[in-house]
Amino acid sequence: MTLKNAATAVRLNAHAPYSNFKVGAAIRAVSGQVYVGCNVENVAYPEGTCAEAGAIAAMVAAGETQLTEVFVIANCPAPIPPCGGCRQKLAEFGSGDVTVTLATTDGDEQVTTIGDLLPGKFDASHMDRS
Ligand code: THU
Repeated sequence: MTLKNAATAVRLNAHAPYSNFKVGAAIRAVSGQVYVGCNVENVAYPEGTCAEAGAIAAMVAAGETQLTEVFVIANCPAPIPPCGGCRQKLAEFGSGDVTVTLATTDGDEQVTTIGDLLPGKFDASHMDRS
């Protein structure tokens, strides 16, 4: 299954009764395995989670920690920009040159990279004082 098809399908499972904005994400891990996630909202709003976070959690739960490709889709006027927190989450598990395709359900796509999505990212080197 393509990442696009996987993200498109899982988006329909999103639990988004508060925003009515369903998001689907699919990531390919270094093994080739595809992991999917959708946003899961909560009546206590800050407890909601993003689609990307769900896909990453599924990957890590399966024992993988390196992603090689990402696809995110939503019903929006322009390809969905991942939120800031999700950019940092993606950067935790993928190098700067990993391709991220952002899409609308109308078929618009924008291809970018983790590095372009999060320039100047915080990483472990920033905690090194030695
Ligand atoms: N959302 C995602 O799932 N991913 C993003 O990158 C942007 C926002 C979700 C969170 C919330 O459930 C809804 O979209 C509206 O913000």
